[in-house]
Amino acid sequence: MRAVGDEGGIGQPGTEEVVPGVRWRAVEPADAPVLSVLCRLTGDSGADATDRTAFPDLLGDVYATPYAHAYGVDGRSFGTLVLDDDGPAGYVLGCLDTARFEAWREEHWWPTLRERYPRPEDGHVGTYDEWLLRIVHEGVRPDPLWAQYPSHLHVDLLPRRQGGGLGRRLLERLCAQLAAAGSPGVHLGVSAANPGAVAFYRRTGFTELDRSATAHTFGRVLSPSGVSSGAVAG
Ligand SMILES: CC(C)(COP(=O)(O)OP(=O)(O)OC[C@H]1O[C@@H](n2cnc3c(N)ncnc32)[C@H](O)[C@@H]1OP(=O)(O)O)[C@@H](O)C(=O)NCCC(=O)NCCS
Repeated sequence: MRAVGDEGGIGQPGTEEVVPGVRWRAVEPADAPVLSVLCRLTGDSGADATDRTAFPDLLGDVYATPYAHAYGVDGRSFGTLVLDDDGPAGYVLGCLDTARFEAWREEHWWPTLRERYPRPEDGHVGTYDEWLLRIVHEGVRPDPLWAQYPSHLHVDLLPRRQGGGLGRRLLERLCAQLAAAGSPGVHLGVSAANPGAVAFYRRTGFTELDRSATAHTFGRVLSPSGVSSGAVAG
């Protein structure tokens, strides 16, 4: 496993010990490079995607780094970075209002990336990168489920921190933050090629709202107390 590096500063003020040897703190804009690496190292349905992409930062530019910069959208960070003695080890990233987040990306995020990355027609059809390049150049279309589940999230842990209950704790922390900020529900997408993550969301209070050949969509209703009250039919 590649080391992510020392960025993130385990001794940094604001970190909070979760279990012995593991801390977390709110994501900051300076964490963007670390988030990008963590995203890539878990980006092939939970496995390292480094050898599958021609663009090392592309996955993170779509699914991780914007959340480190989106303070202006929600007025605060809904991301948590996990740190252990070996450095950054994972994160949960989220936004309160997906419609506002995507409007922000359309105005402030995608234009720069559209200059940096080629269109998928330029020789990437059928590759791992094609669907990411398509998102960069076409943006994210509004989805009716955003009405009931306006928030969304991404959670990734390096293998050394998987299977120890940290994923569940990260979800609970984020759901409590989103609920406290007034969100009625949160959704996420997961690849059908990642059955471990599908099982994880089923065990952590999420209900499957939709399924295609390639992906599952899960949602969780949030109550003001932050405790799930069960999903509404989607
Ligand atoms: C998916 C992930 C976030 C789960 O976090 P985790 O810390 O490993 O999971 P937890 O230990 O908190 O498990 C919570 C529950 O989910 C279940 N679960 C977690 N991973 C599972 C797996 N691979 N298969 C079956 N069940 C699983 C656990 O058994 C546990 O259930 P229980 O409490 O009822 O016994 C983490 O494994 C990960 O980052 N994987 C790689 C990246 C990834 O796939 N991210 C999701 C992309 S959508």
